[in-house]
Amino acid sequence: MSEHEHAAADESTTEATSEKLVELAKRRGYFFQSSGAYGGVGGFYTFGPQGASLKGNVEDAWRDRFAVAEGNMEIDAPTIMPEPVFEASGHLDGFDDMLVECPDCGESHRADHVVEDNTEYEDAESLPIPEVEEVIAEYELVCPSCGAGLAGQAVETFNLMFATNIGPGDSDPGYLRPETAQGIFVEFPRLKEYARNQLPFGVTQIGRAYRNEISPRRSIIRVREFTQAELEYFIDPEEDDPDLERVADVEVTLYPAAEQNAEDGSPIETTIGEAVEEGVISSPWVAYFLGVAKPWYEGVGVDMDRFRFRQHLSGERAHYAADCWDAEGEIDGNWIELAGFAYRSDYDLSKHEEYSEDRFTIFKQYDEPKTVERATVDPDMSYLGPEFGGAAQDVVDELEALAARDREAFAGETVAIELEDETHEIPVEKTGFAVEEQTEAGEHIVPHVVEPSFGVGRLVYTVLHHAYREDEVDGEQRTYLALEPEVAPTFVGVFPLQSDDDLETTAREIVDDLRGAGLSVTYDDSGNIGRRYRRQDEVGTPFCVTVDYETLENEATTVTVRERDTTDQKRLPIDELAETLSAIRDGELAFEEL
Ligand code: GAP
Repeated sequence: MSEHEHAAADESTTEATSEKLVELAKRRGYFFQSSGAYGGVGGFYTFGPQGASLKGNVEDAWRDRFAVAEGNMEIDAPTIMPEPVFEASGHLDGFDDMLVECPDCGESHRADHVVEDNTEYEDAESLPIPEVEEVIAEYELVCPSCGAGLAGQAVETFNLMFATNIGPGDSDPGYLRPETAQGIFVEFPRLKEYARNQLPFGVTQIGRAYRNEISPRRSIIRVREFTQAELEYFIDPEEDDPDLERVADVEVTLYPAAEQNAEDGSPIETTIGEAVEEGVISSPWVAYFLGVAKPWYEGVGVDMDRFRFRQHLSGERAHYAADCWDAEGEIDGNWIELAGFAYRSDYDLSKHEEYSEDRFTIFKQYDEPKTVERATVDPDMSYLGPEFGGAAQDVVDELEALAARDREAFAGETVAIELEDETHEIPVEKTGFAVEEQTEAGEHIVPHVVEPSFGVGRLVYTVLHHAYREDEVDGEQRTYLALEPEVAPTFVGVFPLQSDDDLETTAREIVDDLRGAGLSVTYDDSGNIGRRYRRQDEVGTPFCVTVDYETLENEATTVTVRERDTTDQKRLPIDELAETLSAIRDGELAFEEL
């Protein structure tokens, strides 16, 4: 598993912001634990009205950048997939975490987390199980739930996939997908047709993934059901290069593996162009997507002083990854993985090619046709049929494969093939073995895959955490979320100053007008005006419009527009409101310029 958390260098920040944020999120409808009426269940969260809207806006922004602007396709595949998919992908055998069970209270914990949280080990996930058991014993580590000693307890592997049965009975096992990626890989034979069999091309998917985490924790940061936004970018490794010029000047904070391993190592400030030139990022494709991602993260509201890209250490990489960099955000002194940028090579497509009946290759045309020698077989079925019965076709397949990989095997009188652990000698004259010259127009290649994989819930949490502010307004404590207008659930709140028919009618007309202009608007007439401002501040609404008596008296019929972060107020004519606020939302105008 590549998913990871690290202690940040600056430990001076406290847990307090997260605690306050989680309380605000529940009170104001961002997110809360699901099924609370039945006691709640660990690792499952519901996004409330504000949270669903913020999450939807983040997903739209991701789609705009990684699908639309990059010219990639988007698909929407099922979340349950049959067992053979995960045999092929390696998840059935390799998607495990280390589990240790408390002998007293019976609670299960991630053994590597128990080690990391209580020792100086930062990467216990990459340690072999016996070593983790030794560390637990040596440090006399205890159960995080009840305090009982864990020394001597066996550490076991636990597969993180949720299993189910497809249809009645148990003959057809299936799994809830642990990553949306497999939904893209298994459809490659069809998707390549939509791409007109031309590399490179990219396919995106935003959808749910499921992992039966041993110890879900930190609110929505580690959950059992979450949304991923993934891009699988298929390339010919010998031919395709990214347009690095487009991102060469993007400034990044990188924490390469070599710096992490060095005693006095630390993150480095550089640009994408320099990092590729100096070999800090070995894959130009991974570098390209880091360069695309950095300004995107900034645009949705991640604080760039609390953001970095960290390279995976060799023992930390997922079973499919040749190299991987994580985007990390700092939360209360810990670095949280927000996304992984992995070079998956041809691992996935080769596996599906091997395990399935379909072709996971692309035909690559040569510039000039090539003449090559090919070894072929044309077996005598009147001999193989009576000799092998129903297995005759398997013998043909074996002979074909053998001719392709070892023509010397056909040099004698007989050729040996393996069938179900038995060796059979077949007269070479019955195989129709021949070496022929063939002119070939191209070859079938297995594309390589570069994968930017984003966790949406973690990003929502980070955006909220980085937007959380406290200040004092008119002698009163205020909490507000300085959310970017692009992702804020509501863009403008509209209020009548007091309970008054005329004020309310005008305010409702403004609401209709602004909604008609495509702005997201909320109407609020309950409580005093100060309280209404605080409510909108707390959910991060960038602007509030108040209809007061001056509106009705004033010939130009103006209203007050208040900006959230500064609390500055300006008067604007009602008939210019929709146009002005739309321009601010689209970044064409700043409130200060009004
Ligand atoms: N297809 C590659 C893949 O799934 P990953 O690093 O395991 O890679 C990608 O997951 C992202 O999904 C992570 O960077 C993280 O943001 C999110 N994620 C992973 N496990 C999660 C969990 N249990 N709860 C919330 N988000 C999670």
